[in-house]
Amino acid sequence: MISRRDWLRINASAGAALSLNSRTLQVLQTEAVRTRVIPSTGEQIPVIGLGGRWISMNSSAEELADHRAVLHALTEGAEGSGRVFDSAAGYGRGGSETYAGQWAQEDGFADDIFWATKVNVAGRGGDLADPESVRAQIERSFERLGVPVIDLNQVHNMGDPPTQLGILQEYKESGRIRHIGITTTNETQYGELAKVMREYPIDFIGIDYAIDNRLAEERIFPLAQDEGIAVMVYLPFGRSRMWRRIGDRPLPEWATEFDAHSWAQFMLKFVVAHPAVIVAVPGTGDPQHMVDNLGGGRGRLPTQDHLRRMFELVDSLPGG
Ligand SMILES: NC(=O)c1ccc[n+]([C@@H]2O[C@H](COP(=O)([O-])OP(=O)(O)OC[C@H]3O[C@@H](n4cnc5c(N)ncnc54)[C@H](OP(=O)(O)O)[C@@H]3O)[C@@H](O)[C@H]2O)c1
Repeated sequence: MISRRDWLRINASAGAALSLNSRTLQVLQTEAVRTRVIPSTGEQIPVIGLGGRWISMNSSAEELADHRAVLHALTEGAEGSGRVFDSAAGYGRGGSETYAGQWAQEDGFADDIFWATKVNVAGRGGDLADPESVRAQIERSFERLGVPVIDLNQVHNMGDPPTQLGILQEYKESGRIRHIGITTTNETQYGELAKVMREYPIDFIGIDYAIDNRLAEERIFPLAQDEGIAVMVYLPFGRSRMWRRIGDRPLPEWATEFDAHSWAQFMLKFVVAHPAVIVAVPGTGDPQHMVDNLGGGRGRLPTQDHLRRMFELVDSLPGG
């Protein structure tokens, strides 16, 4: 179990290692956590969470220790900086749900987390899901996470929406799942996603969106706003894509005008500046990066003028 003193040490070393980043730490200590409202329930959640895709049954002991520290960083910053942890039954051969659930119980932060996970026994769309297997997978998520109620369970990668969303709806009616939704990070599925958004009473969608990947802004976000569906953003850095494109370029000085003190905060602030976005869940296995990312959820947001300058700058980078 990591004590609050250890957490503060992580925080301090994060500040030193990130070199900004006395300024980030100052922002984390002084600026309020930005939250947004889930349209269907009115609940507020912080705009920056954590993507838990990289916690795996195959992770080494050292990697697991880092992931555990990342979860502490998510929940134990000043005023509990972040809450949303996004997992899936399929992540890391079940390791993502299993380890996160175990650490949360052992270290006493299970109640601080907004537990988001996903179900899919149908593959990447097209195949039908066997209803009993869907229920069994949902029940396994409860066991692994060790919680009586899951905050959000979404159909992963558009797998058989009629069957899987129908079963999630039953769970929602029983009160064991609080919000339901559906996800894709494949633009060829955006048309089908839009159809589901119109036809099913869902609370959330999960979708890819980044400063150099703005398709969802045109094709999906206006519909989400019209239908009152919360958007959870995946791949806000495009995994390694944006890091490669940025290389060792210095952050422009004008980024401080909206309290971005690292490239991660620059990219996250771009994403959460869109009013349709309720939460972004960057993935990291590095507690210092988690602290850095949480800075994207505090302080000022870019203005329209900043947003234009931001994507013009990014569009001029190599690898677009
Ligand atoms: N269809 C779906 O439902 C779907 C599909 C894809 C993703 N997702 C969700 O979206 C989440 C995020 O996706 P992702 O993790 O694949 O991609 P991502 O968030 O775009 O990028 C993660 C990468 O960025 C690095 N990184 C994170 N914070 C950083 C920082 N402050 N400074 C420098 N590097 C940083 C990470 O390395 P370090 O570990 O070294 O920090 C990792 O290599 C997933 O965990 C998952 O929950 C859902």
